[in-house]
Amino acid sequence: MAFTVKLPQFGIEIDVPRGMTVLEAALDEDLDYPFFCRGGTCGKCKSRLVSGSVDMKPYAGFVLTEAERESGLILACRALPLSDCEIVALDDENL
Ligand code: FES
Repeated sequence: MAFTVKLPQFGIEIDVPRGMTVLEAALDEDLDYPFFCRGGTCGKCKSRLVSGSVDMKPYAGFVLTEAERESGLILACRALPLSDCEIVALDDENL
């Protein structure tokens, strides 16, 4: 089973199989999605969850605060879709 994740910055929708993170699926599609550590410790993949829901694998709390999480921000390298989603990466220009 997979969920469809819309990535409007890239003009694409990708299928993210259950258990795969958004970042892993984006990189499998050869997208230039921002990342560095892949482990929830750098914040480079911080993104806005525009719609849908995700489960988050463990990450460093200082990278994504509770307030940021509640405002709809996620880490793509930790995000496991629980539904179809739309996600926008916060690159340096958008921070
Ligand atoms: S790539 Fe470092 S927190 Fe996601």
